[in-house]
Amino acid sequence: MLSYRQGMLYADDVSVEALASKFGTPLYIYSEKQLLNNYRSFESVFASVPHMVCYAVKANSNGAVLKTLAAAGAGADITSGGELFRVLKAGFPARKIVYAGIGKTEAEIEYALRENIFMFNIESLEELELMNRTAARLKKRARIAFRINPHVDPHTHHYITTGKSGVKFGIPYADALKVYKRAAGLSNIDVAGIHSHIGSQITAAGPFKLAARRIAEIVRRLSKAGITLSHVDLGGGLGIRYSKETPPTPAQLRDAVLPEFPFFKGTFVFEPGRYIVGNAGILVAGVIYRKTAGGRNFLIVDAGMNDLIRPTLYEAYHEIAAVSGTSRKKIKADVVGPICETGDFLGKNRLLPRLAQGERLAVQCAGAYGFAMSSQYNSRLRAAEVMVSGASHRLIRRREKYTDLELS
Ligand code: LLP
Repeated sequence: MLSYRQGMLYADDVSVEALASKFGTPLYIYSEKQLLNNYRSFESVFASVPHMVCYAVKANSNGAVLKTLAAAGAGADITSGGELFRVLKAGFPARKIVYAGIGKTEAEIEYALRENIFMFNIESLEELELMNRTAARLKKRARIAFRINPHVDPHTHHYITTGKSGVKFGIPYADALKVYKRAAGLSNIDVAGIHSHIGSQITAAGPFKLAARRIAEIVRRLSKAGITLSHVDLGGGLGIRYSKETPPTPAQLRDAVLPEFPFFKGTFVFEPGRYIVGNAGILVAGVIYRKTAGGRNFLIVDAGMNDLIRPTLYEAYHEIAAVSGTSRKKIKADVVGPICETGDFLGKNRLLPRLAQGERLAVQCAGAYGFAMSSQYNSRLRAAEVMVSGASHRLIRRREKYTDLELS
């Protein structure tokens, strides 16, 4: 989505500088074209099997992003009642909604049952029992899959490792048969599928393959025990290239997992989040001050960890590019935010052209888990968001104002 034209950064056909001047900074900019390309390039590789691509809404739940994906035919992977509310408003049909999450409350379960969503991914026996009781009370049936923890190390940051033994997610795969048998005996539960999600920002195909093998083994054992599943949900987690990573392509992911299921004739579900929206967004920040301290150069910018927490929380690397001035002499600098924490940085030791106060930087691959994880920490106003579509653009969320910080 990003390219330089005569030394100025463009998001598709729109000047980043022009957008930053018009809307101010910090500013999230998304490319509709990149978003749709990503969705289609993922979706199309599974054409040979029945499949459903359910976008993981937590990655970016901006209304315009959701509406664009819903109109393109995507399903949604949700994780709360709030996400259900948003995806229904955005036009995702209930029959394409899968609901994961280890802590669904009774109110959330009731809401999703009333809306008749496609699938609940269940993570504990107590959740199963509550689901059954709630469905009975509403005179409904709940279609469920169990989220099985296949005990596979995805080799990613430990905070986003979800399919290993000892984490809070899923049912240990050794217990799978037992929980399915229990569910099959419940009056208001339809046992329909199996789910696994082993982590996020996974950059090798091996862990996906191993998890798929373990899930396939369970599907076979269930079938022998008389429990036939109609869908297999292999979760999300496909990594993207922030820097030098070489993650598998969707086709490589497909070639790793589908051969593990030669016997399976049902529907495959995938829940990509980051792959769909990650490289479709940037965060633009303006330089407030420059200083040198303790032998380091600092660029103090107007976006901080409340706008993009990934560098702070996961020590994640995001490329940072100057919006203009690229032909100038370069210096090494730490790009830091205005928040009162030493952990408030966007990038350290970055080679950047010597920028003046008021000039701008673009933090790349900020479309996923960027705005979605932003906060008002330090009573800062959350950023504006803009969608670029070819040569046009539109504001898709206004910048917050001080009135959004009212005391009650
Ligand atoms: N399905 C389930 C059940 C999930 O928990 C997640 C992400 C996804 C799908 C989508 O994963 P993706 O394709 O986006 O990797 N905030 C972190 C990432 C947290 C991921 C949580 N679950 C980050 O900024 O790296």
